[in-house]
Amino acid sequence: MTKEKPWGGRFTEPTDAGVEAFTASVGFDRRLYRQDIAGSIAHARMLAHVGVLTEAERDAIVNGLKEIEIEIEAGGFAWSAALEDVHMNIEARLTDRIGDLGKKLHTARSRNDQVATDLRLYLREGIDAADAAVERLQEAIVEVAEREAGTLMPGFTHLQIAQPVTFGHHLLAWFEMLARDRERLRDCRRRVNIMPLGAAALAGTSFPIDRDYTAKLLGFDAPAENSLDAVSDRDFAIEFVSAAALVMLHLSRMAEELILWSSSQFDFIELPDAFCTGSSIMPQKKNPDVPELVRGKSARVFGSLMALLALMKAQPLAYNKDNQEDKEPVFDTLDTLLGSLRVYAEMIPAMQVKRENLRRAAALGFSTATDLADYLVRKGIAFRDAHEIVGRVVRLALDSGRDLPELDLDELQGLSAAIGPEVFDVLTPEGSVKARNHLGGTAPAQVRAAIRRARKRLAKKS
Ligand code: ARG
Repeated sequence: MTKEKPWGGRFTEPTDAGVEAFTASVGFDRRLYRQDIAGSIAHARMLAHVGVLTEAERDAIVNGLKEIEIEIEAGGFAWSAALEDVHMNIEARLTDRIGDLGKKLHTARSRNDQVATDLRLYLREGIDAADAAVERLQEAIVEVAEREAGTLMPGFTHLQIAQPVTFGHHLLAWFEMLARDRERLRDCRRRVNIMPLGAAALAGTSFPIDRDYTAKLLGFDAPAENSLDAVSDRDFAIEFVSAAALVMLHLSRMAEELILWSSSQFDFIELPDAFCTGSSIMPQKKNPDVPELVRGKSARVFGSLMALLALMKAQPLAYNKDNQEDKEPVFDTLDTLLGSLRVYAEMIPAMQVKRENLRRAAALGFSTATDLADYLVRKGIAFRDAHEIVGRVVRLALDSGRDLPELDLDELQGLSAAIGPEVFDVLTPEGSVKARNHLGGTAPAQVRAAIRRARKRLAKKS
C-alpha cells in the first residue's frame, strides 16, 4: 500500500511489485545498520541540542534506536523490501516501537546525506580493519625474513636467473609494497572522515542545525563544506577501492611467486598442507589454491574500481539513484581484501623454505658474472672492458658445460691477466651477496639491519 511508504503522500498508485524489487537496496545495504543507527542517534542528539527536539523526545528516540540495534543483532528484525532500504526500515521500526515521535527523527535530514554518512562511517571502520590486516601480514613477513636473512636464492629479471640475493631481502621487498599500501589507506581515510550530514537532500535545511556538534559526536574530522558536494561525492569510495586494488595487485604478484616457487620445477618452498587442496583425479597433486584464488580475486577488486569510476562519470549534481550502486563494489572489495590478507598472514609463516634448493639455484645461470666484472673494475679495468671480458668467460663456461666457479685459474687468466686466485671468492653466491653491503642491499647484515628498521616502523603507530 502507498501509505506504508514514508514518501507515499503524493502517490495515487502503489509501486509496481517488480519495480519495488528492482529498486530496493535493503538486501545489501542492511549491512550499514550499525552506522545508520549511530548516525541517527547523533542526529537526534544534535536536534535536542539546538532545541528542535525536547530532551525527553531525544531520549525516547535514542533508546528506541538502541533497542532496534539489539533486535537486529539478535536476528529478530523483519527487513522489508517494500521499505526499500536500511534507512526506511529502521525509521519505520522506530515509529512502530515509540509511536509518532519516531517520525520526528527525519527532521532536517534526508536519506541523501544519511546514506553518504553511513557509507563513510562504514568505510572508516573498514579502512582501519584493512590497515590492521596489512600490518599483521607485514609482521608475518618480517618474521620469515628474519629466519631467512642469510638464505641464498637466485634473484630474477625477465624471470631469468640474474644475480644471487637473500630470501630475507626478497621478502622485505614485499614488506615495502605493503608499507606503501598502508600509507594509501591512511591517506584515503582522511578524506573519508568528513561528514555529509546537514546537507539534507542537497540544499541544506531551514532548521538551526549544529553540524560541528554532530560531527564531533560521530568522530568526523569536520562537516563537508558544500551541501551539493556532500550528498553527491563518492570519490572517497573510489579512492578506497583504488587503494584496495593496489593491495590486491601486490598480493597477486606475491601469489604468482608463491605458485612458481612451490612448483616442482622451482621447488623453492612447500606450502603447508592446510592451505592446499588435492585433485579429484590425480592422486599425487597438491595445488596452491590459496595464492591462486588470491590472484583470481584481485580481478574482482579491479572490476569494482572500474564499476565505481563508470558509475560516477556522468552524474550531474547532486544525488542520483545511481549512487545506490556504490555499495556492493565497496562491500565486496572490503570482504575480498580482508579475506585475502588474513589467509596470507597465516599461510606465509607456515611455508617451508627449501634452503638447499634455493642455494643450488642461486649459483645457476652464471649469476655471479657481474661480480666478476666488478672485480675486474677494482683491478683497474674500465667497466665496459670488464663486461666484454666476462662475456668471453661466460662463453667459455657455456661451451664447456661448466659454471663460473668451476673454471680453472689458467683459463680465466688466459682471458684477463688481471685475474688472481682470490677471484674464486667473488664467484660464489655467498661472496656475491656479502659484497652488496650498503643500505637497501641484499647482504645478510643489511637484511638484518633492514629488519630492525622494519620492526621500528611497525611499532610506530601512524
Ligand atoms: N538507498 C538509497 C541509496 O543507497 C538511499 C538514498 C535514497 N535517496 C533518494 N532520494 N531516493 O543511495
